Order: sequence, then structure tokens, then C-alpha cells
Amino acid sequence: MRGLISYIAALGPLATPLIQATATIPSYVYDYAPLVWLHSQDAYRPGDIQAQLDHTTPQVNWTAIQGAPSPLTLNNLDQLNNLGNTSVYLTSHEGIAADPEPAWFRGITPDAQGRIGDATGCAIIVVDHGKGSVDAFYFYFYPYNKGDKVLGMEFGDHIGDWEHNMIRFANGTPEAIWFSQHASGQAFTYNALEKKGKRPIAYSGNGTHANYAVKGQHDHTIPGLNLPTGFLLDYTDRGILWDPTLNAYAYAYDPSTGVFTPSTADVPAAWLEFNGRWGDDQPPGEPSIFGEAKYVAGPDGPKFKGLDRVLVCPSKPCVVLPFRIFAE
Ligand SMILES: *[C@@H]1O[C@H](CO)[C@@H](O)[C@H](O)[C@H]1NC(C)=O
Ligand SMILES: *[C@@H]1O[C@H](CO)[C@@H](O)[C@H](O)[C@H]1NC(C)=O
Ligand SMILES: *[C@@H]1O[C@H](CO)[C@@H](O)[C@H](O)[C@H]1NC(C)=O
Repeated sequence: MRGLISYIAALGPLATPLIQATATIPSYVYDYAPLVWLHSQDAYRPGDIQAQLDHTTPQVNWTAIQGAPSPLTLNNLDQLNNLGNTSVYLTSHEGIAADPEPAWFRGITPDAQGRIGDATGCAIIVVDHGKGSVDAFYFYFYPYNKGDKVLGMEFGDHIGDWEHNMIRFANGTPEAIWFSQHASGQAFTYNALEKKGKRPIAYSGNGTHANYAVKGQHDHTIPGLNLPTGFLLDYTDRGILWDPTLNAYAYAYDPSTGVFTPSTADVPAAWLEFNGRWGDDQPPGEPSIFGEAKYVAGPDGPKFKGLDRVLVCPSKPCVVLPFRIFAE
């Protein structure tokens, strides 16, 4: 029922983004920003990036870091690079296996306008390659990732979840778009996509938040192939519409210097330099089957997702599909 109401509400006019175009963030980055359908049954919604810091303690090898900034904020998170660097895990106060699980794992359900309150659950990062070629990354943050079930067993739960779309523009015209899915993803031409007005639609997998161009059932046993049935399944539907631009910080990124420039001076940027992980490490002694465990380590952040791309995909092979396949 809630899904139906949201769907009807989502057909109405969308709210205007709070963030305005600036010299480094062109307006077309907002005009063509993806809209995300969250799964109707997904208990794990997008969340606030700062709240993740409030609910965790930075640890190395399951030991709190002495001398870590307190409170930890999006303006000082980068200081952890000198206190453990890639070995730092933002470790939940409750533990990944807490029962009952803490409410903050569940994030925030978007309202009828597609807004997650005053939380910031999206980072837009614009990379200008010159000659009119601009990549706009839309990073989506979810406090918790619920893994898929295989043969009744659950694999790959983790705290902290960064997913993204990337749109490649040529002189302000969207040409191709990347959808992150687990360790890989899919690329499509802009014309191939479902849209609401100019804005392409992404479907967020139930629990895993892998991004798809079509609703329905997705097998991701073979990355990028998206077969309709198989061993490892993601489910998407038109549950609740999230407009990430209503809850976003925006930056320009210069790959030659590695500098992130926030859209305005009040937008925190230091956190993007953080080299550690956004959730707990994999618990010691975690049982695994074929190398797959129920609880796994949290992910690293946007700077590790291939911001300086030659192709629209982060790696080869890169097939940009001119049509959507295996829909519904
Ligand atoms: C979606 O995930 C929820 C838990 O978040 C689960 O209860 C539900 O069965 C899942 N639905 C599908 C279709 O997988
Ligand atoms: C991590 O901590 C455990 C237990 O305190 C210790 O035995 C182990 O050597 C530590 N590992 C590293 C890499 O420091
Ligand atoms: C910290 O990690 C980053 C990212 O992997 C790496 O480039 C850098 O060299 C590391 N710094 C140190 C001091 O090890």
C-alpha cells in the first residue's frame, strides 16, 4: 500500500534541488541526475553520511584508535589516514550481528517528494576531462547492505554501502551511463534508459542496492550479464522513489591533483580523502562457504571507485548497451 501511495506521489512534480549550479558544477548535472526506485520491501534505506561516523568508532584490528579526532566529522575524517590508513574500519557500536539490529542500519525512507529529510545520502562528483567531456558521478550512501540469499543462506551483509551511477556528458548532452552492481556493473546509452522527463531511472536492488536499468529479477552470478534467473539474485521494483539530488553534496574532482573542490565553502570535503572502510571489518573466524561469508567487511569510499575513467566503465571490457535487456 505504501508503495502504491509513493508511486502515485512520485508521478507528481518533483521538488527543486536545494543545490544550485555553480561554476564547477554545471546545471545539466542536476537536470539529468538519475532518480532511484528503492525496492518496496527493502528494510535498508539510504542514510546520512555523518550519522555513520556518529554510530561508529574508528578501529584498526578491532582496537579503537588512540588519538582519533573526537567527535569524528566529515571535516576531519581524513586525519585517520595517518592513524592506520587503509586498515581503519568505522566499526559499529552495536556490532554487525546485533540482535535486534539498531534502527540506524535501516536508514531513512524518502518522503512523497523523494527526500530523506535533512540527511545527506548522496555525493555528486564532477570530473571535467576538457574538450566538453564531463563525467558526473552520483554516489548513493546506505548505512547497511543486506546480502542476497543462495540456497536459503545469506551472503555478503556489510555495514556501509556505496553505490553509484556515472553519466558521461559531451558538451552538456548525456551520452552514456554506468550502473554499479556488486564488484562490477553495466553501461547503457542515455537513449536506452527509462526516464522521468530528462532524468534516467535507476532501480536499487533489495538489500544490496546494486543499480539496475530495469525492474524485475537480476542474476549477478556472472557480473554485467544480468540474466533474469540464476543462482545469485537481486530484486528491483517501483517501491519508493528517492531523488538523491535533494540530499546531496557536490564537488569537482581534479584527477591530476587529486583535489576535491566543494560546490560551496560550507560543504565538507575532507571526508572524501579517507582511505579506510565505511563499516566493520569481517568478524574474525567468520565461517565461509566457497570463500563467501555472511558478514563481510565494509567498503571503501568514492575515491576508490575509478573517478578518473577513460571509458564509462571503471574497467574493461566495457560494452555500452544501446537497449535495455531482460526487463521485468
Ligand atoms: C527484500 O528484503 C526484505 C528485507 O529487507 C525481505 O524481507 C524481503 O523478503 C525481500 N524481498 C524480496 C523480493 O527479495
Ligand atoms: C590483531 O590483534 C590480535 C589480538 O589482539 C593479535 O593477536 C594480532 O597479532 C593483531 N594483528 C595485527 C595485524 O596487528
Ligand atoms: C594510504 O593508502 C593510500 C590508498 O591506498 C595509498 O595511496 C597511500 O600510499 C597510503 N599511505 C601510506 C602512508 O601508506
